[in-house]
This record gives sequence, structure tokens and C-alpha cells, in this order.
Amino acid sequence: MIIALTGTPGTGKTSASKVLEENNFEVVDLNKIAIEKGFSIGTDRNRNSKIIDIERLNNYIKESYSKKDIVFIEGHLSHLLESVDKTIVLRCHPSELRKRLSHKGWKKEKVNENVEAEMLDIILCETVNIHPEKNIFEIDTTGESAKDVARLVMEITKNGFRHMKKYNIGSIDWSEEILKDFK
Ligand SMILES: Nc1ncnc2c1ncn2[C@@H]1O[C@H](COP(=O)(O)OP(=O)(O)O)[C@@H](O)[C@H]1O
Ligand SMILES: [Mg+2]
Repeated sequence: MIIALTGTPGTGKTSASKVLEENNFEVVDLNKIAIEKGFSIGTDRNRNSKIIDIERLNNYIKESYSKKDIVFIEGHLSHLLESVDKTIVLRCHPSELRKRLSHKGWKKEKVNENVEAEMLDIILCETVNIHPEKNIFEIDTTGESAKDVARLVMEITKNGFRHMKKYNIGSIDWSEEILKDFK
């Protein structure tokens, strides 16, 4: 079973993944694979980021991992892969996300772009467009440590991906944060 661990940059995918690995789960770094295997088809100069051939990346992931018992695919593009069976979307309150990304030393425009994307549920919307709702789970990482987040991911996994109310999509809503800008 292939599980996508996705979310806006800064929501803590890589940090939680390290804890998952410490707990003997296999985690694949999707950005690393995309570059190493040559699935990059150019550079988005405005964003200074690579453009990835998602279809080829998807085929590679399917061929390499679909027979595995459980493997996590970590990265902000992982939900775009049709071959993933389940998707876990990490979320973070915009003001905490702003702090986390600023701490990383990111430029203001890049911080703003990602905080905006989180406020607008961009990754969740993309996920819902590709995968059935029953396969999508959301975790609010605000105020949680990476260890806590990994524990919640493991809870969902151990529970056989049965739905629990606290992980149902749609209950996380940052729209108040958008409205603040208009007050
Ligand atoms: N649960 C968390 N609580 C607070 N800070 C976190 C948490 N997870 C990650 N961070 C911090 O936020 C930043 C981004 O985390 P990272 O795991 O790299 O996110 P991502 O891989 O989703 O971009 C890092 O500086 C990290 O130390
Ligand atoms: Mg990361």
C-alpha cells in the first residue's frame, strides 16, 4: 500500500517522516527521487523550483512500490500521484506556518506564497480532485511536535485507514485568517 504524506511546505512532512523511519516504516523522499531519476523537465524561474513530469514519476512509484506492505511517499507533490492508495494531508495554522517558514530563512515572497496556499486549502483541493474522499485524511499539526504528528499518522495506519472523525476532511478551516486581511 502506498501512502502519500503531503502538505504545504513547512507543515512538517520531512520532520514527521524522520520519526516514522525511527519506527521502522519505509519512507520515500519524492523530491529526491524526482531529481535523481531525471523526472525534472525544466525550471520554473519565477518560483526557482523544478517542474516535474508527474506521469512518469507516477509510473516509477507504481512499479517500484505498489507491492510493498506499507510505504510512505513524502513530499508536496505526492498527492498528485494516481498510484497512491491513501493520502494524508498535513495542515498548519497560517500564523504558525509563517513562523516555521521564516525560521527556515525563506524570503518573504516565498513565505507569503506558501501561507496563502495553506489558507486556501490548495493541496487538499488538488487531492480531492484526484482521489476519493474515503482515501483522504487530514492532520492539524498546529501546536503538535513532529513526534506527535508521526504518532497520529501511525494511528491512522494501524487503524487500517478506517475513518475517524478527527481526521475527516473539511473540518480544518483557515478562512478567518483570509478575512482578517479585509477587516
Ligand atoms: N510539528 C512541528 N512543530 C513545530 N515545528 C515544526 C514541526 N514540524 C516541523 N517543524 C519545523 O518547521 C520547519 C519545516 O519542517 P519540515 O519537516 O521541513 O516541513 P516540510 O517537509 O513539510 O516542508 C522546520 O524548521 C521544522 O523544524
Ligand atoms: Mg520536506
